[in-house]
Amino acid sequence: MTFFLRTASAFAIAGLAAFAGASALPTAAVAHGDVTPQAVDVTGLEPLGDEWVEENPYRGDAKAIEIGSSAYNQNCARCHGLEVISGGVAPDLRYLPQGLEGDEWYVMRVRNGVVRNGMTYMPAFEETLSQEALWAIRAYIEEKYTEE
Ligand code: HEC
Repeated sequence: MTFFLRTASAFAIAGLAAFAGASALPTAAVAHGDVTPQAVDVTGLEPLGDEWVEENPYRGDAKAIEIGSSAYNQNCARCHGLEVISGGVAPDLRYLPQGLEGDEWYVMRVRNGVVRNGMTYMPAFEETLSQEALWAIRAYIEEKYTEE
């Protein structure tokens, strides 16, 4: 009986979480304080497969920048700042080197996150966001360089 109750409440909690996740989606664009990584719809982008490419294949691509903008605002803005203007919590990503050099550093950071001395400064995104979504975000960030 105890087992059943535990299981039942675990399901209830899982259900609640799923519900909360679903209902959070329409408001995600404004709720940049969200902690859970948000799924990113990459429809319209050329699929890249399982192997990570070295250089951003979407640089300058309008569709990627559009997808990257919303993905950035849902997953990165709470630390790195809205419109990629850092408020000081995390580095200002507009100062990453452009092109391949910046791509390498970018990919290493977003895939692994940053953990030092047991403290998570930035979560790893490899498990939660696709390669396509992460390169789209990079395309959006680079677009912001030129607007300054
Ligand atoms: C919980 C806060 C947080 C979130 C969310 C977050 N970051 Fe970070 N990020 C950091 C911090 C803090 C650092 C600096 C880590 C350090 O001390 O080196 C960092 C570093 C980076 C760097 C390296 C910057 C440099 O100058 O070396 C990149 C690139 C980066 N983040 C990209 C992203 C992207 C893209 C996202 C969203 C997919 C994201 N981050 C989400 C906190 C965050």
